[in-house]
Amino acid sequence: MIKKFSNKTAVVTGGTRGIGKAISLRLAQQGARVFALYGRNRKTAEEFSIQAKENNLDIVAIRGDLTKEANFKSVIDELSSKTDAIDILVHSAASGVHKESYELSERHMKWTFDINVFAIHNLIRELCIRMSPGSKIVGITSSGGTRVIPYYAAVGASKGAMESLFRHYAAELAPKGINVNMVCPGLVLTDAVDAFPDKEERLDKVLKATPSGKLCTPEDVASVVEFLCSAESAQIVGQTIVIDGGKTLSS
Ligand SMILES: NC(=O)c1ccc[n+]([C@@H]2O[C@H](COP(=O)([O-])OP(=O)(O)OC[C@H]3O[C@@H](n4cnc5c(N)ncnc54)[C@H](OP(=O)(O)O)[C@@H]3O)[C@@H](O)[C@H]2O)c1
Repeated sequence: MIKKFSNKTAVVTGGTRGIGKAISLRLAQQGARVFALYGRNRKTAEEFSIQAKENNLDIVAIRGDLTKEANFKSVIDELSSKTDAIDILVHSAASGVHKESYELSERHMKWTFDINVFAIHNLIRELCIRMSPGSKIVGITSSGGTRVIPYYAAVGASKGAMESLFRHYAAELAPKGINVNMVCPGLVLTDAVDAFPDKEERLDKVLKATPSGKLCTPEDVASVVEFLCSAESAQIVGQTIVIDGGKTLSS
């Protein structure tokens, strides 16, 4: 059976953990060769590579802190040695400091923006020349890019910046046949949520305010990314698809 992404090559940042892992798995299950980029968690990445191999999935984990020039270059060199063409680029990697706005130093902001905005900007600049018509770029944003979430000023500001950057890339790359879009999930239970100082209270609040009564899962996000990376999404350009069980519908 011919799979949706047979003969396609995908790069997924943050591709070995959390939402990015679900995306790597989904794209590979649909036939893509996936380069799953990761930063520090080597053990998780190695376990993921073994799991992928056991399931006959073509997933290659590549390590490198995308915010450090030398590491970024080594990731690009490794990618270049393994493939000439990239058909799909997904930015799921993110980090951030969770504090109230007035507590955020320039260093905190820089740390957050370096991975959430500058890393993907640099990746798109490097990789878009290897992307032919029909290629797709998808970013994972969050409701904090447009709304207020407690302790989320740094990440929210970086997501807002990323969204604007993606809309500009979307307009500039559409004439070349490259579609750029974003997915905005509601709260997803991954390791990232453990970093919130008010985790339990927040979970409770989110569930109560979500009409579907369910949290979004990494697989829910992977399904929308799969669609945006498919040929069927051809005329969707520069959009953000919200998947939050209706949470952001209410004022
Ligand atoms: N979880 C949620 O509730 C939620 C909601 C809305 C949107 N999102 C967005 O969804 C995406 C994935 O979130 P998640 O919850 O799956 O996050 P996560 O579990 O914390 O995973 C983050 C990933 O980013 C990678 N990463 C972080 N800093 C990096 C760096 N400097 N260089 C290279 N890789 C780096 C990590 O790699 P290592 O672990 O190897 O360092 C890890 O794979 C993020 O963009 C997040 O903002 C999440």
